[in-house]
Amino acid sequence: MQLINRLDALAPAVSDLKTRGSLALVPTMGALHAGHLRLVEAARERADAVAVSIFVNPAQFGEGEDWDAYPRTLEADRAKLAAAGVNLLWAPSTDEVYGPGFATSVRVSGVSEGLDGASRPGHFDGVALVVAKLFNQIRPDVAFFGQKDFQQLAVIRRMARDLDFPVEIVGIPTVRDADGLALSSRNAYLSEEARANAVALPDALNAAAEAILGGANVGATLAEAKDGMRAAGFSLIDYLELRDGDSLAPLSAWQAGARLFVAARIEGTRLIDNIEVTPK
Ligand code: PAF
Repeated sequence: MQLINRLDALAPAVSDLKTRGSLALVPTMGALHAGHLRLVEAARERADAVAVSIFVNPAQFGEGEDWDAYPRTLEADRAKLAAAGVNLLWAPSTDEVYGPGFATSVRVSGVSEGLDGASRPGHFDGVALVVAKLFNQIRPDVAFFGQKDFQQLAVIRRMARDLDFPVEIVGIPTVRDADGLALSSRNAYLSEEARANAVALPDALNAAAEAILGGANVGATLAEAKDGMRAAGFSLIDYLELRDGDSLAPLSAWQAGARLFVAARIEGTRLIDNIEVTPK
């Protein structure tokens, strides 16, 4: 596996990989866990060569968020990716990505609004910007993203379509720990006690989904689910909402394709999750 951190070295390496056939990209911010490795596995099954990027993108972190503290584990990540059969690791510095005088923004309206777009103003502008740059730098035929960040996936799909990037966007189902908590690099911030209590988040989603499918009132069900999360130690619930899985429009009653979305803090760590609300 080639590790590259300068743009001038990236272009020839990408051209070389593209001579082998199709090229897949898995964009990440590092601190890799089994969820990322599942994306890599899907990329390897699908394409002739796989590139992974590791870049903790300052443009998608708001003031007071955890950009400084975000786990940076490049050596361990590199070993995992080499063992997983990745061909190219693109791990640029901040200056390499956002050079002097950088002045461009990318904004995707509609799907960026509400949910994390409301709780983290500017977050999806930063995601869209860096992913657009990665698409230009790596020129992948196909790119893989986790469904855990479902709104991000919708934003990237819209951006790729609107800006005519010749790339297929693939969403991969969320990988979960045995108790149901979605894998996330931020789970590493949790104390043992908070980690044990964090299972209240997927539990609340699953119980609410079951109740909604059983015909319960959506508003009352979500209020009850929030109470359960607060009782388990979630101090701040940014949102718990039922939305359409395609348009992300808010729903007050179940319909096919509905999803539940949640973001909440436990011990100061913000966790997000979502599930489809569909009969099993
Ligand atoms: O999901 C992530 O890890 C990031 O938001 C992404 C897509 C790599 C962009 O920085």
